[in-house]
Amino acid sequence: MSLALPLLAVEQLDAGYASSQVLFGMSLNVGAGECVGLLGRNGMGKTTTIKCIMGLLASGGGQVRWKGKAVTGLPPHAVARLGIGLVPEGRQIFPNLSVRENLVATAASRSRSSPWTIDRVHRLFPRLAERSRNLGNQLSGGEQQMLAIGRALMTNPELLILDEATEGLSPLVRQDIWAALGHIKSEGMALLVVDKNLGPLLRLADALCIVEKGTPAWTGSSEQLRRDGEVPARYLSA
Ligand SMILES: Nc1ncnc2c1ncn2[C@@H]1O[C@H](COP(=O)(O)OP(=O)(O)OP(=O)(O)O)[C@@H](O)[C@H]1O
Ligand SMILES: [Mg+2]
Repeated sequence: MSLALPLLAVEQLDAGYASSQVLFGMSLNVGAGECVGLLGRNGMGKTTTIKCIMGLLASGGGQVRWKGKAVTGLPPHAVARLGIGLVPEGRQIFPNLSVRENLVATAASRSRSSPWTIDRVHRLFPRLAERSRNLGNQLSGGEQQMLAIGRALMTNPELLILDEATEGLSPLVRQDIWAALGHIKSEGMALLVVDKNLGPLLRLADALCIVEKGTPAWTGSSEQLRRDGEVPARYLSA
């Protein structure tokens, strides 16, 4: 285990919605340049954890730390400015803006040696270059997902969070997305990835956190999860 300060630390978060508590001491760490997979059955609290990190949902206890500093309770725009990018569940691109406009709408130049630009996003996803003038609502599901990832990259985050980025896509498009995430990781960006496709997630992730009823039930490396064949059956099967 690394002794270095994690980039993101979620510590003992409690959170929920009006009528029900969902997170009970949820915790996880993401190190600089590290890819962490967040797994768990439906409704266990993965998206809720992400909402708390992004300042979209208030927590009732615990802390979110960025480079050691408590950032719990910051509004979403301030969290984004720290250097955390989100590819939300359901993509949520702007339907009435063109692909190009979607990419520049929330772009931010952070001091990076090689910032993400429209050209770099087009090289990552050539389909977006071909569709540059199309409106968001004229894109296929896969193209929308590529656009959602490209848009988040254009904010030049240090950590990119993806919530079910391959859901509902064809196997070929999914492969493109996993390949793009591998490329993004190889350039040193930290990733927190929620996805139900265990095989590709294990190949991409360095570490995994399995959430059960709003609590981290298992954490370990991809290697450990591969060796312990009982883990998927115990925590992930329907
Ligand atoms: N806006 C909301 N209001 C009330 N309850 C909610 C709301 N959003 C989620 N919940 C409930 O909170 C619990 C956790 O939901 P969450 O979306 O965090 O799960 P998840 O792990 O992301 O699941 P999935 O794999 O289906 O995306 C579920 O019981 C869900 O029904
Ligand atoms: Mg979810």
